Amino acid sequence: MNDRIRCESLKSRVTSAEQAARLIADGMVVGMSGFTRAGEAMAVPLALAERAKTEPLKITLLTGASLGHDLDKILAEAKVTARRMPFQSDPGLRRAINQGEVMFIDQHLSETVEQLRRGQIPGVDVAVIEAAAITADGGIIPTTSVGNSASFAILAKKVIIEINLSQPLSFEGLHDIFIPSYYPNRMPIPVVTPDSRIGTPSIPIDPDKIAAIVITEKHDSAATVAEPDDETRAIAGHLVRFFEGEVAAGRMTSRLAPLQAGIGSIANAVMHGLIDSPFEGLQMYSEVLQDSTFDLIDAGKLSFASGSSITLSEKRNAEVMAHFGRYKSKLILRPQEISNHPEVVRRLGLIAINTALEFDIYGNVNSTHVMGTHMMNGIGGSGDFARNAMLSVFVTKSVAKGGAISSVVPMVSHVDHTEHDVDILVTEQGLADLRGLAPRERAVRIIAQCAHPERRAALADYYERALSRGGQTPHLLEEAFSWHNRLRETGRM
Ligand code: COA
Repeated sequence: MNDRIRCESLKSRVTSAEQAARLIADGMVVGMSGFTRAGEAMAVPLALAERAKTEPLKITLLTGASLGHDLDKILAEAKVTARRMPFQSDPGLRRAINQGEVMFIDQHLSETVEQLRRGQIPGVDVAVIEAAAITADGGIIPTTSVGNSASFAILAKKVIIEINLSQPLSFEGLHDIFIPSYYPNRMPIPVVTPDSRIGTPSIPIDPDKIAAIVITEKHDSAATVAEPDDETRAIAGHLVRFFEGEVAAGRMTSRLAPLQAGIGSIANAVMHGLIDSPFEGLQMYSEVLQDSTFDLIDAGKLSFASGSSITLSEKRNAEVMAHFGRYKSKLILRPQEISNHPEVVRRLGLIAINTALEFDIYGNVNSTHVMGTHMMNGIGGSGDFARNAMLSVFVTKSVAKGGAISSVVPMVSHVDHTEHDVDILVTEQGLADLRGLAPRERAVRIIAQCAHPERRAALADYYERALSRGGQTPHLLEEAFSWHNRLRETGRM
C-alpha cells in the first residue's frame, strides 16, 4: 500500500465505498473517470445505486465517455442518473434516454471541460477518479484512461479516489497531463508531433481535496468489438488503395499522416487492414486505442500511438498487459480535450476515420440518431476530428439489418457531420473521393461508388427528379424522408 498511497497524510482517508459515496448528495454534479469502458471508478457508483433503493438520490453524471461494467445501465435503472453527458454506449441507458427519463447532452468530447472551466454549465461537486497510485505530493496517476479525469479532479470541490490494485504500477509515466491555460490568456498547446510530451505524469491536485480513498481490485470490461468480416475487409481495401494513390500523387509519404480511428467494429477493422498494407512507420493521434493499435505495433507498422484510453478485447488485454513494458515507450494517454483538440488536430494534419450510421447523397453524415430520433451512442470525438482533420473519412456498410436499411439515403434524418466536414466516404461497395466536388457532382459519385447495387437505381431516380427543382443541393422535400417512412411502416426502406 505504501507504493499505492505515497502521501502519508492521505493514508488515514482510506474508507469503504459506502462511506465515500456519502460525500455525494441528492442533486449534485458528479464527474467520474472512465472513457470507452476503460478506467472507470466502480465501487462508489455501485454504492450510489444501492443507496438509491432507500433514499432519493439523483445526480448529473459527467464522465470522459462510456462506462464499463454495465455501470450506466445500473445507475440509470436505479434512477440515480438524472442528467448525463457527454457520451454513452449502454443499451440500458440508451433506453432511458430515448424514453425521456434521462436528459442526455450529446457533446463533442473536447468541449465538456472547457464549459466547466468557464462556468457555462454547473460545476463538479465531487469527482470520483480511478487511480493506479497517489504520489507523495498528492498527484493522481490514472489507469487505462485519462478522459476528463484531470479537469474533474482539479475543478471539483471534493475528490474520491478509487485505487485499483489490479492495474499495474508500471502505468506511471504513461500519461501526459496538460491543462490549457485559461481564457483570455490561452497559449498554444505545444503538441507538434503525436509523441510530444507536454505535461506531467500525474494529475496535480491539492491533496487536501482528496476526501476519501477506496481500494478496489477490478479489471476493465472487455471491448465488444466484432472481428473483421468480408465487408469491413473490403472497406479497408478501398482505403488502402486510396492511400496508395495519395502516396503515388506525392500528397503523402508512405508514413501517411497521423491516424485517428473512431470507436466500433468497423473503424477497428479498417485499422486492422493496414497490417497488410505497404505503409510503414505509421503514427496514431487518436482517442481510443483498440486491439488494432497493438496489432499494428506488433506487426512493426505503427511506431507511436497517442490516445485518451486503452480499450481491448479480453484476449488482447491479457497479452498487452502481460508485456506492457514492450509497448509503454510507444504510447501516451492524454486528457481528451488534448487528444481531440481542434488546434492540435489541424496542426498535425490528421487522417480521421470515423463511422456513419447513414449518409446522404450529398455527403452529410448521421452518426448518432437512428431514424432521426433515437440516440445510439453520441457524437463522441468524431466531430472534433472530422471538422479539423487534413482528410476526413467516414466508413459504413452500405446496408444494415440484413439489407432492410440502406446506409445511403436521399437526406439524412439527423446531421452530425455536414457535407463541409466530409472528404471521403467508403462502403464495401467502393470509395467516393468528394474533394473539390460540388453537391451535384458529389451525388453522382456517392450513388455510383457507395450505394448498394440494389439501391442505386432508386437513389439515382430521386436525384434526377430532384434536379428538375433546381438548386445548389437539389431535393424533393416531400420525398426526402420517404425511405425512413417506408422503413417505419413496412420494416424495409
Ligand atoms: N439505421 C439503424 N441502425 C443502423 C444503421 C442505420 N442506418 N446502420 C447501422 N445500424 C446498426 C447496426 O445494425 C448495429 O446494430 P446492432 O448493434 O443491433 O447489431 C449498430 O447500428 C452498430 O453498427 P455496426 O455496423 O456494428 O458499427 P459500429 O460498431 O462500428 O458502430 C456507430 C457504428 C456509428 C454506432 C459508432 O461508430 C458510433 O457510435 N459512432 C459515433 C461516435 C464516434 O464516431 N466516436 C468516435 C470518435 S473517436
